[in-house]
Amino acid sequence: MSERSMKQSITSNRPRETLALALDFPDLPTAVSMARRLKQYFGIAKVGLELFSAAGPRAVGALAEEGYEVFVDLKLHDIPNTVGSAAKVIGSLGASYLTVHCSGGIAMIQAAADGFETGAAGAGLAAGKLIGVTVLTSEEDASVDVLRQRMQWAEEGGCKGVVAAATDLAMIRDMAPQLIRVVPGIRLEGAERHDQKRTATPAQAIAEGANLLVIGRNVTEARDPVRAAATIYAAVESAKS
Ligand code: C5P
Repeated sequence: MSERSMKQSITSNRPRETLALALDFPDLPTAVSMARRLKQYFGIAKVGLELFSAAGPRAVGALAEEGYEVFVDLKLHDIPNTVGSAAKVIGSLGASYLTVHCSGGIAMIQAAADGFETGAAGAGLAAGKLIGVTVLTSEEDASVDVLRQRMQWAEEGGCKGVVAAATDLAMIRDMAPQLIRVVPGIRLEGAERHDQKRTATPAQAIAEGANLLVIGRNVTEARDPVRAAATIYAAVESAKS
């Protein structure tokens, strides 16, 4: 399979389906209101630790009702049995994506993959995609060997994709071209970087081979979130054409 057809087969070429909105808010009404405003630009809503702590499963249901695919970003990391059980519950909620920390090892990743699939099947839903977090973008000193090891666990453990910094994408594409590449730390040229150490513009990330871009504060904390979202959408559209 050519690189191009491989790329098309693992994710959509449409910008909206490439863009995940990180709804890092402390309450559900604020998150839903932002999600509603930005629907035309984002097809995926990401529920992270903050929103899940505030609203739990209700957040998944509310965003699915808004028409989003829901990305539950809890970065699970515990003993395999506990992670597998949590993943089963999240699968039953209809989450389209779920993250686990690859540093938890292969048995834990396998338990997550099994649990996520079983939970969805039990609820009569299509299986979601398990995504492995290789190296956090805020980790400055992770070596290439660490990344390779975590990639191998992700692939062998049943992940369908990995989260990675844009700077690591070429290596990841070489190692496991079939895995979806999810890239956070996206910033428009000259924008505030916050705590992200390895940022990339939307165009750079797409050029490096990203399949899914996670966009948070660059849009949600912008003076005009709709305008920021439209700018990012246009950048992705032109990078893909
Ligand atoms: O764009 P912004 O920096 O606000 O996005 C941060 C989001 O991306 C947060 O929800 C964070 O959990 C997530 N993320 C990350 N680095 C990773 C994985 C996820 O920043 N490796």
